[in-house]
Amino acid sequence: MTAYAEFHRRSIQDRDGFWAEQAQLVDWKSAPTQVCDYSNPPFAKWFVGGTTNLCHNAVDRHLKDRAGQAALIAVSTETNTERVYTFAGLHAEVQRMAAVLKDLGVQKGDRVLIYMPMIAEAAFAMLACARIGAIHSVVFGGFASGSLASRIEDSEPKVIVSADAGSRGGKVVEYKPLLDEAISLSSHKPGAVLLADRKLAAMNIVAGRDHLWGALREKHLNTVVPCEWVESTHPSYTLYTSGTTGKPKGVQRDTGGYAVALAASMKHIYCGNAGETYFSTSDIGWVVGHSYIIYGPLIAGMATIMYEGLPTRPDGGIWWSLVEKYKVTVMFSAPTAVRVLKKQDPALLTKYDLSSLRALFLAGEPLDEPTAQWISGSLKKPIIDNYWQTETGWPILGIANGVEQKASKFGSPGVPMYGYNVMLMDDAGEELVGGDKKGVVMVEGPLPPGCMQTVWRDDDRFVKTYWQKLNGKYVYSTFDWGVRDADGYYFILGRTDDVINVAGHRLGTREIEEAISSHPNISEVAVVGVADNLKGQVAVAFAVVKDASVLVDDAAHAKLEAEVMKVVDNTIGAVGRPARVRFVAVLPKTRSGKLLRRAIQAVCEGRDPGDLTTMEDPAALQQIKDLTAA
Ligand code: PRX
Repeated sequence: MTAYAEFHRRSIQDRDGFWAEQAQLVDWKSAPTQVCDYSNPPFAKWFVGGTTNLCHNAVDRHLKDRAGQAALIAVSTETNTERVYTFAGLHAEVQRMAAVLKDLGVQKGDRVLIYMPMIAEAAFAMLACARIGAIHSVVFGGFASGSLASRIEDSEPKVIVSADAGSRGGKVVEYKPLLDEAISLSSHKPGAVLLADRKLAAMNIVAGRDHLWGALREKHLNTVVPCEWVESTHPSYTLYTSGTTGKPKGVQRDTGGYAVALAASMKHIYCGNAGETYFSTSDIGWVVGHSYIIYGPLIAGMATIMYEGLPTRPDGGIWWSLVEKYKVTVMFSAPTAVRVLKKQDPALLTKYDLSSLRALFLAGEPLDEPTAQWISGSLKKPIIDNYWQTETGWPILGIANGVEQKASKFGSPGVPMYGYNVMLMDDAGEELVGGDKKGVVMVEGPLPPGCMQTVWRDDDRFVKTYWQKLNGKYVYSTFDWGVRDADGYYFILGRTDDVINVAGHRLGTREIEEAISSHPNISEVAVVGVADNLKGQVAVAFAVVKDASVLVDDAAHAKLEAEVMKVVDNTIGAVGRPARVRFVAVLPKTRSGKLLRRAIQAVCEGRDPGDLTTMEDPAALQQIKDLTAA
């Protein structure tokens, strides 16, 4: 048996022994008394009895050896600023933020919603919450007021931390008006709003509720706020993600299991060492940003780069210039970003000294072979795909080069990572054995440390959404189709549900449909994900208009299409905006009234829509065919 196969086998068969060893990678205030409590499946409690703190592990514990080394490097090509915080500097800022949050009434277990651009203050806020045992809920800065309101409603934050504005491609994107609108839409009102003023946009300050970070920080320049030691199972954060229904789920993560999982992944999968620099190009609003911009690299004692800006501004060499300047050893991005860079001048890739870089990891969406070939040929570094989800927090499938160097296969994110007992299940709910068969990727419970504990305040939804019984055991569904080859490598074929992946951003088609339906002249709509060369997928909407007499000509079509897009921009944000909105007389449905999204998607992609014997009105699909062929 090879070293990795044995490592993986042990993680499953001697689960507690394996994870007890991994737990040594982090600091505990008091040691766990039980590694895994799985007495109430599918709920798993990791490192029971142990107390620890994420901020301590990410910041304080490094002060002894590397107080003066870089910890957080905040680069913005939007405001042309670069700020480098050492571990000591970060420690000081996080304590100031923690002190301010406490002044605003935040206590252990309270939620703090963070709606911020990619600036250092966002990292301070996340770490400050962890420090005092508050539960952060970061909302992607690209979301608009509707999406933000539903997250405020569900997480009921005591305080919201935000900013005047972000900036994208040189264009200021105001956050404050969206935040004010979201608060007015939500029935829950935060006790206070804390604002970083970047002086990018004027802010309308609500007296008694809104506070400026800059002013409150001054009062706490030297305030000491010790880490609150929390139970390993204490929730560290919630992060909302899309699923089949229109209502996003609050993925709830623990503290101790997450710290251990990230520390282990930095060692075995990403191979990052203390004192080096990690550069993940994601955003703190997504799970990659939580695990591999903020917590993972810092827990490993690495400097982490937070980047605000486009990959192509001032030119397509900006990321490589950062690799050279900060001697990045490990980089993490998404295939979409690589496809964008592929269109840039190839000379930009040879212009900088990339000798520090050991590997580029890619995740979030399928890595197509041309993209993988291009980047590996140009960069001449290992390109390592890894597959995971908001729910899991760290890779399910990958290559653990820290355990054993293993070859990647084009098109495959790799093999099951330690701790994950991965299997494929067929339509009848039976496990598929042998190679080259297509099924749903499932993981036998318990999920390893670091994965979601439950859906925030909805245990029932957690069980019903993700879990089913197979041979008497609980298995977790990833909602992804997959194939396993004879060597045990998996290939991911796309989602089984109504989730689409646009430029690596996970979106629910139902959420987009709900937004579009709020337009007064739309009676019904179907949104599907359609394959796209650059973004992987784009959303395309087919809508039935209430009063079709307005659609007198092409200009009227274009006007209504623009209006519908605007509704999505205002509710979800531009990330959710469909590439096209087409108007149809009727949507294809089964005789029992179920929308045939898969058939619409197939037609849009020029594929055979399959068995349509249950379809109510074949003309409906024909109209979509004609429209997309046009
Ligand atoms: O469909 C899979 C796809 O992204 C989904 C999870 O998205 P999210 O919750 O945003 O988490 C991203 C964490 C990297 C998955 O269900 N996905 C993720 N990684 C890959 C992938 N599809 C193919 N290959 C991957 N490497």
